[in-house]
Amino acid sequence: MKVMLIGSGGREHCIAWKLKQNPEVKELYCVPGNGGMSSLGVCITLNTIPEMVQFAKEKGIDLTLVGPEAPLASGIVDLFKAEGLTIIGPNQKAARLESSKVYAKQFMKRFGIPTAQFEVFDRPEAAIAYLKAGLKFPLVIKADGLAAGKGVFIVEDEEEGEDVISELMVDKIFGNAGNQIIVEECLEGEEATIMFLFDGKSCCILPSSQDHKRVGDSDVGPNTGGMGAYSPLPWVADDFVAQITETVALPTVRQLEHEGTPFIGLLYCGLIVTARGVRVIEFNARFGDPETQVVLPRMVSPLSEYLLAAASGTL
Ligand code: AMP
Ligand code: GLY
Repeated sequence: MKVMLIGSGGREHCIAWKLKQNPEVKELYCVPGNGGMSSLGVCITLNTIPEMVQFAKEKGIDLTLVGPEAPLASGIVDLFKAEGLTIIGPNQKAARLESSKVYAKQFMKRFGIPTAQFEVFDRPEAAIAYLKAGLKFPLVIKADGLAAGKGVFIVEDEEEGEDVISELMVDKIFGNAGNQIIVEECLEGEEATIMFLFDGKSCCILPSSQDHKRVGDSDVGPNTGGMGAYSPLPWVADDFVAQITETVALPTVRQLEHEGTPFIGLLYCGLIVTARGVRVIEFNARFGDPETQVVLPRMVSPLSEYLLAAASGTL
């Protein structure tokens, strides 16, 4: 089997390492890869999605796997599939679960997936007025679009909230990702990540993990893309996983299928267990980073076979 893996981080290094455990994976191309990955596969720089399509055709790639969210949000899966190439990941529409937090929150609200209460704003004045309406702090402010894991702010008071709103919506520190923002209740509790590999209908559940996002030791400072992770979570039992499968993952994917956008790929469920029950903090449409680096080493089965089965709807 010839596999092309898109991405250049620790997550992709781990995926490459896991893929290479299967002797069936004879050729691995990492686009662009990194220093660590160069001992596992051929690293090659391809600058555009059409170049990747061309390369996959020329090399006769059997399976392409997308690591990061940006190519999914740009529609890489749609383009590969239109050319008859096998790729694992959601199409651009299904990837909105990650690429638009507003879409994801409204989806959850519409279909009864438990999540934090929220309001959406497309004007800074309206968002600031909302902060001044006597809400209880801390509050969470989120950019709608992709911001490399840095678009979520927990603010302690009105002043801090106003600064964040202004940075996101006026200074546009994350560009168009700040055209809309979410202000939501701040939840307290233990966080958990459960990732599901979906073939559009059926899924394979990966081991639980927890990531730590704040930049400083002792969980202080702003959120980052993720400083570290561990797996398994000692408090996550089978019934918790079954509950998340039944109340979060399956209803989400069934609804997407119903809407004609089946979810094929990794559905990352970021969860928080509050005193009032479990809530979804976020969905991602790909392998978590850095959760993958602690989850895949615990997986015994060959990843490539699962990915192929998911891509062909036979999981
Ligand atoms: P996200 O990018 O949506 O995963 O958010 C990054 C991190 O911000 C999460 O892992 C949580 O630690 C924190 N966070 C996000 N939303 C909330 C919330 N409503 N309440 C408390 N913490 C949150
Ligand atoms: N660990 C969080 C993420 O992958 O977005």
